[in-house]
Amino acid sequence: MPTASMHELIRDWDGLSVVVRHDRDSGAWFFIALHDATLGPPTGGCRMTLYPRPEDGLLDAMRLARGMTFKWAGIDMEFGGGKSVIALSRPLEGQERIDTLLRFGRLLEALKGAYWTGEDLGTTPRDMAIIARETRFVQGVVDEGGSKKAVDPGPYTAQGVLAGIRATVSHTLGSRELRDRTILIQGVGDVGDPLAHLLAAEGARVLVSDLDPDQAREVARSVDGSVVAPDRVYDTPCDLFAPCAVGAVLNADTIPRLQCRMVAGAANNQLKDEGEDALRLHARGIVYAPDYIVNAGGAIALIMLGREAPGDRILARIGKIEDALRTILEEAAVADESPLLAAQRKVDDLLRGARSDR
Ligand code: PHE
Repeated sequence: MPTASMHELIRDWDGLSVVVRHDRDSGAWFFIALHDATLGPPTGGCRMTLYPRPEDGLLDAMRLARGMTFKWAGIDMEFGGGKSVIALSRPLEGQERIDTLLRFGRLLEALKGAYWTGEDLGTTPRDMAIIARETRFVQGVVDEGGSKKAVDPGPYTAQGVLAGIRATVSHTLGSRELRDRTILIQGVGDVGDPLAHLLAAEGARVLVSDLDPDQAREVARSVDGSVVAPDRVYDTPCDLFAPCAVGAVLNADTIPRLQCRMVAGAANNQLKDEGEDALRLHARGIVYAPDYIVNAGGAIALIMLGREAPGDRILARIGKIEDALRTILEEAAVADESPLLAAQRKVDDLLRGARSDR
């Protein structure tokens, strides 16, 4: 958690700008972090959750916006990095939640497309449909018989994670076969739950963990897998660890404990300290698939659905995550470096090339 003040956090950030609004009626803070617009308009989800202090929400927005810059560039899509946070100081329900979302929507409309939003942790497709009553600048909302309907990116993100896991497994073990591989999913919510089903259908042995014990039990039962207690996740042997909950789960405390050969999951910002933790994983011989490549399926789907692309084309595009990631893993192996560095080089090259074209 940051100890810096808001203005210090913004001053030290490498992004473009941050839009800040204190929403007096709800007591929430709106943070819209615009990281980079080289490839297109800053676009990324809206996270709505409780934070101990508004500074924590601001930092989350800035880190996640940066991640979006990498995500779009990593999958060659013409959008820029942006993310928003509605930082709550108390839970909002019912009409109060709706009204807050509507005010957030009006702020987006006032920004005239400088930022496009979509679903993220703590927001739902229904929330997106509410925001879309006030603004055009929401990805993944489609018109259905005159009313607005938002799609859930979770199952698409899960398809992309499956592609990412295949690439990681085939690179590391020499075959993309998932049968009898043991895969531990941390967090079986919007992405982890459909992922568990996809993996089970491939014959993988699925271990699931969730802070909600009922949810963990339910998913484990439906995929014939088993439950791992949240405090045992980092010490449980498996072939591949798939973080699909919150960020910063790979850090100085957890990495030395891991008993897996690979990490590939959906959570954003899995490394607590990007540089250091990528090195720690590499030094332990654990193959780390960069989160923003693995979890790009939802972003791809939201954009393509908005353009009314047919389902099979969307799935085919998401499936390309496998090739993109395999190339990155191979490059990293040749250079004996963390795949994060290889991915970052790809992104830097792309952004530099795009900037010099202008
Ligand atoms: N929040 C998801 C992500 O980070 C999906 C999303 C992508 C939402 C793009 C809006 C825009 O990938």
